[in-house]
Amino acid sequence: MITLNTCRIITLGMAIAAAGTSLVNAAPLGLPAVPIPADNPQSDAKIALGDRLYHEERFSADGKVSCATCHAEEKAFTDHRAVSKGHNGLLGTRNAPTVINAAYMETQFWDGREPDLEGQSKQPPINPVEGGLPDHVAFVNIFRNDASYVKTFKQVFGVDKKEITIDHFAKAIASFERTIIAGDSPFDHYQFGGDKSAMSEAAVRGLAVYVGQGRCVSCHIIEQNQALFTDNRFHNIGVGFKNIQGRVGEIAKDFLKAKNKGVDVDVTVLSDPDASELGRFAVSEDINKIGAFKTPSLRNIELTPPYMHDGSQKTLADMVNFYNNGGRVNPDDPLSPFLSGGIRPLNLSDQQKKDLVAFLKALTSPSIAAKVTSTKIID
Ligand code: HEC
Ligand code: HEC
Repeated sequence: MITLNTCRIITLGMAIAAAGTSLVNAAPLGLPAVPIPADNPQSDAKIALGDRLYHEERFSADGKVSCATCHAEEKAFTDHRAVSKGHNGLLGTRNAPTVINAAYMETQFWDGREPDLEGQSKQPPINPVEGGLPDHVAFVNIFRNDASYVKTFKQVFGVDKKEITIDHFAKAIASFERTIIAGDSPFDHYQFGGDKSAMSEAAVRGLAVYVGQGRCVSCHIIEQNQALFTDNRFHNIGVGFKNIQGRVGEIAKDFLKAKNKGVDVDVTVLSDPDASELGRFAVSEDINKIGAFKTPSLRNIELTPPYMHDGSQKTLADMVNFYNNGGRVNPDDPLSPFLSGGIRPLNLSDQQKKDLVAFLKALTSPSIAAKVTSTKIID
């Protein structure tokens, strides 16, 4: 079993948790306490089971794909691919977000279609381009027929073989993910730790651009005592619009027709590149949310290229240019009619752009960087 550096946070958390109560994770510098749902308290045994399930490759049609395939610790809990590759080499439509600090997100997935980590974890094993198992029955049968899992589920949840359900799996995985927490970056030491020498001068200037002329902070939020770098809301910032330009109405109509017939949203958005671009609309059916995606956190961003929901941007410099052009790769690209009002050309100087990149690089947590072996994008 892989032991995570980040798991040490739990040990710390145990020290401060009163005996008999659920574990409270001690938050690293810059982050609040991890929210733990009342119906899924943390325990060491449950976290260990979640760790094992997270790395279990049998939960896939070809026996080779686990959560860790697409969210690998040595790749900062992502896969460094533009879009993810599931069983039998099948490609999806979206970039794998990191699992680091996903525990703080108010919704899961780029379009927020699942409310929590428990709900999220049930989808990949049965998504046709990810795990590719036929259904949750086939999935649950894998643990029910494994004596070692049966024993561990009994220890953790007190259930017998036949009582093991997908919800037990989801709870264990989610408990494990709630230990994959990382703050404590140079920025955190500068901003919250009172160490004004923790960031380079370029990064300090970059922070000024971030909160000032760049207006990044309006969506990637920094608060008084902590920074999640997300507003947990959905915005169309112009990504992917070129691919569906002129066909938006038709794609939205076809999607709704299929959805009303009961076609699964998780399946459709990850296998149909057009439907993927509908973003939050696929969940809320609110026309104003066409092409709107969840604001991702920016922590450890240097370690998780490529960027955006479609993996279309390769470097942080590309990202800054994209924003500087008002949500466009090139200043003369067409603008999406659904573009967020917060996205306008920024008129940043070359120096300001470089400083902004330096600031983004100051958001790396040493505990994560220590385990990352490469940030090379895999084609
Ligand atoms: C084949 C690659 C693949 C596999 C396997 C996979 N994921 Fe993902 N994961 C993705 C992609 C791609 C997304 C984004 C999909 C979307 O938003 O529509 C995602 C999204 C997520 C998110 C949402 C993060 C956020 O910020 O919204 C979490 C959490 C997550 N995965 C955890 C898991 C867990 C746990 C497993 C195993 C049960 C798993 N993933 C298996 C590729 C994968
Ligand atoms: C209006 C809200 C908003 C503003 C303002 C904004 N962002 Fe974003 N940011 C988002 C959203 C939403 C995404 C995901 C978009 C997508 O994939 O379609 C994103 C994605 C990113 C990503 C890629 C993250 C990843 O994991 O792929 C980076 C880096 C980033 N933003 C940096 C910045 C910087 C730097 C600024 C200021 C120049 C900024 N953002 C301003 C909402 C915003």
